[in-house]
Amino acid sequence: MSDPKAEKPTKQWILNAFTMSTPGHLASGLWRHPRNRSSEYTDIEYWTDLAKVLEAGKFHGLFIADVLGHYGVYGGAGNIDRGLPGAAQFPISDPLQVLPIAAMAAVTKHLSFGITASTTYENPFLLARRFATLDHLTKGRVAWNAVTSHLESAARNVGLETQIPHDERYAMADEFLTATYKLWEGSWRDDAVVKDAEARRYTVPGRVRGVDHVGKYFKTAGPLTTEPSLQRTPFIFQAGTSTAGKAFATKHAECMFLAGMTPQSVRKSVDEIRHLATTHGRPRTSIKLIAGILIIVAETDELARAKYEEYLSYADLEGSLTLFGGWTGTDLSLIDDDDDLQFTGPGAIQSLVSSWTATVPGTKNTKWTKARVAQELAIGGAHARAIGSPTTVADVLQTWITEADIDGFNVSYAVNPGDFEDILRWLLPELRRRGVFWETYLAGTTRENYSADGLGPRLREDHPGAQYKWPAE
Ligand SMILES: Cc1cc2nc3c(=O)[nH]c(=O)nc-3n(C[C@H](O)[C@H](O)[C@H](O)COP(=O)(O)O)c2cc1C
Repeated sequence: MSDPKAEKPTKQWILNAFTMSTPGHLASGLWRHPRNRSSEYTDIEYWTDLAKVLEAGKFHGLFIADVLGHYGVYGGAGNIDRGLPGAAQFPISDPLQVLPIAAMAAVTKHLSFGITASTTYENPFLLARRFATLDHLTKGRVAWNAVTSHLESAARNVGLETQIPHDERYAMADEFLTATYKLWEGSWRDDAVVKDAEARRYTVPGRVRGVDHVGKYFKTAGPLTTEPSLQRTPFIFQAGTSTAGKAFATKHAECMFLAGMTPQSVRKSVDEIRHLATTHGRPRTSIKLIAGILIIVAETDELARAKYEEYLSYADLEGSLTLFGGWTGTDLSLIDDDDDLQFTGPGAIQSLVSSWTATVPGTKNTKWTKARVAQELAIGGAHARAIGSPTTVADVLQTWITEADIDGFNVSYAVNPGDFEDILRWLLPELRRRGVFWETYLAGTTRENYSADGLGPRLREDHPGAQYKWPAE
């Protein structure tokens, strides 16, 4: 009989490295910093070296965000120039490329690769084929961040006059995922591929079929041309925050990214997401929830703070305002340099300012000019920050885990891989001492490592894609 007084095992946190295939992901201007290699993002060694660092620390995954256009809000609609000097997520290259992912897979054994791809601009069959190919080459270590895309410039890049309306993009996304589940889960019977040399049969006839998906937005006949991979459906990430976004995410996502500056604000989303999951017939805890955070850690609080200040001296504030424009649709170039945005700024700024004044030391009596706001956004964007010694940072993270009821973190950086190396050196020993971060991976595939439920690499039975599985008879 189990002892009712026995302590529950300590929750094990998820750590994801948050990156993008660009010199200026969430820290415009920092590409110039001598410790930052992000401007080498076009070299395969940049990716393989980063993957090795992350796997040495046993990070769960390397996640690559993506957008399909320039930000084009700050400085007037369509403006290209303001974000260029700081490399504010521009230039950017395609994360869904087999070669760099396969190269990183070749130098690691367990690290997962989360890849962003758009349901608005991709094609379900072609995307299913690319992910299946990568799931093979990585031995089941890919995740798909299924995004609906939010940049006007992306729509124009692919030949549309303007964006498809927000909620309709989510309706398309829902159908897109259904079509890909049919291809991944339903077109090859589990025992279709036998590679039986004596019987001269690679695949058994009758065990591969078309899927004939005909929907409102997409048509695909199938079968998928790629043979079944370990996970079939890649592990699904999502980050929708609107009503339509949350409805979509809580139906399909296996892990969600949450934005928010305070544990209290994120807790509201967490409670809502867990409830919404149950409305789709999924258990409350079936979706792993991870919050974005910038971690700057050093031997002491003073050294960490000094490092952050030194990073800030490289920041390109026009770049931060460019990113802010793209995220919120608000052009701060229209606002006077001297305005106190705490009172006169758009809603998104006022709520950011109130969370900064609540959480960032020494900001209570600040006048929140445009430059000041840009500085707060300059490194790590609109995510929380944990800056300090190993114990300070671990305490901040623990507060988030407890108060926001989340499962882990999407960790951004100012310099790369330097900030991740610092996390390996200073923070991970402290987290392991506290028993909250694993010594090593649980298994080989993404789904097994993130879900940590011992249920194997395939979609869970309560997931909507599971109904398309075609088991051996
Ligand atoms: C941590 C995080 C990472 C995200 N990464 C991307 C990304 O790489 N590409 C993208 O187009 N959108 C990305 N988003 C935006 C979301 O996909 C989504 O559009 C946004 O959260 C707004 O939600 P809504 O579309 O439901 O309004 C990200 C959001 C968060 C919080």
